[in-house]
Amino acid sequence: PGAAPTAMRRILPADLVERGGCPFDPPPGLRARRGRAPVQPLHLLNGAQAWLVTGFDEARAVLSDARFSADRIRHREATSLQPHEVAEQAAGTLKPGPAVETREDGFFVFMDPPEHTRIRRLLTGQFTVRRMRELESRVTEIAVEHIEAMKAAGTRADLVTAFALPLPSLIICELLGVDYADRAEFQERTSVGLNANSTAEERAVAGAELYAFMQRLVAAKRAEPADDLLSGLVHDADPPLTDAQLVDVALVLLGAGHETTANMLGLGALALLEHPGQLAALRADPSLVDNAVEELLRYLSIIQLGVSRVTTEPVTLDGVDLPAGATVVIATPEVNRDPRHWPDADLFDVHRPRVPHLAFGHGVHQCLGQQLARVEMQAGLRELITRLPGLRLAVPVEQVPLRDEMLIFGVHSLPVAWA
Ligand code: HEM
Repeated sequence: PGAAPTAMRRILPADLVERGGCPFDPPPGLRARRGRAPVQPLHLLNGAQAWLVTGFDEARAVLSDARFSADRIRHREATSLQPHEVAEQAAGTLKPGPAVETREDGFFVFMDPPEHTRIRRLLTGQFTVRRMRELESRVTEIAVEHIEAMKAAGTRADLVTAFALPLPSLIICELLGVDYADRAEFQERTSVGLNANSTAEERAVAGAELYAFMQRLVAAKRAEPADDLLSGLVHDADPPLTDAQLVDVALVLLGAGHETTANMLGLGALALLEHPGQLAALRADPSLVDNAVEELLRYLSIIQLGVSRVTTEPVTLDGVDLPAGATVVIATPEVNRDPRHWPDADLFDVHRPRVPHLAFGHGVHQCLGQQLARVEMQAGLRELITRLPGLRLAVPVEQVPLRDEMLIFGVHSLPVAWA
């Protein structure tokens, strides 16, 4: 009630968005379009023309070709998906601080090389093997703490609020160096944006507060550096990043690393519970978890229609002529089930041999946090299935509220029980 329609609802035809009977399969309308052609015109609800890519090879070609720009700020006159709409996809439903439409500071997801390269390099320098290894043991600790707290509190819980959301949220706090004392404030602001029932006003207020929070965090790291990623960015960058850039980079990491993993954990747990044979195989051999996570990434492809680009010049893609300024939307759930790429692509199979998928994108913008995301999912799911052997859904699967109106698909809540 009162919730503003999401970018998905305002812009994309309903049949591309609404799921059919199965919570894991792509919307039937999207599947029907895949049958037509791997690259095809797409009429958006705002009257604009775009193109939809449903084929694996075609999507990979787009994402590795510099003529398809990620810079929807510079090309905002041409593109039919405006930067704030893309930001809404990329950073959940938060629109933090000053207008994203014109902000070029540190939103590197909206940049092309060489501007993108500079910030990306600084960040990969901070995602060190040592830091990721330290985070790995923290991920397990946090997962165990939350599961044990669930068990201590009873025999039922909402797995989203009790586990799937707090785990990546606390890890982002550690990565950025948010103090324990400030975490409640930080989590409250972000949760307003993640809650589908928040009004547009509530989101705007939370977004502005989050922006101010990040400004204070950057100032604190400048004054007193610690051993965290944000301090590293403040002090190691040469030439230095401005405060506005640092705030944006921190907000990108928050948005990109929070809701994605949370939804993979929630929807991933549901997929396992709904495929008892696969779950039993994992319980019998927990060393399969890494493979299962890769298969869940492919099978669930939660970034539904969230990866898009705009052409900087006329391009012919799979025989289709695209003009300059064409918006191209990658249909990841279909791309990752391309029957030309995987046998029985619609089957969820934890034993499936690994073949590269596009759940983390491809090319220069390929997910920066993918190793961290994998660690969170592997440790999270491993602890969940081993510590809660009697885990089951507490409601009929049809009653689990799906996030099909959000660009990041998943479940709004997941009522579970255990013996
Ligand atoms: C980019 C997916 C988790 C940080 C991307 C992209 C995808 C993606 C598809 C490419 C977007 C594009 O090309 O337009 C996912 C999924 C995740 C996940 C499915 C969880 C399962 C994370 C985590 C972090 C993170 C945990 C970080 C802390 C980023 C960043 C980018 C990105 C910073 C932008 C990179 C760039 O523009 O150079 N992610 N992501 N992601 N991801 Fe992730």
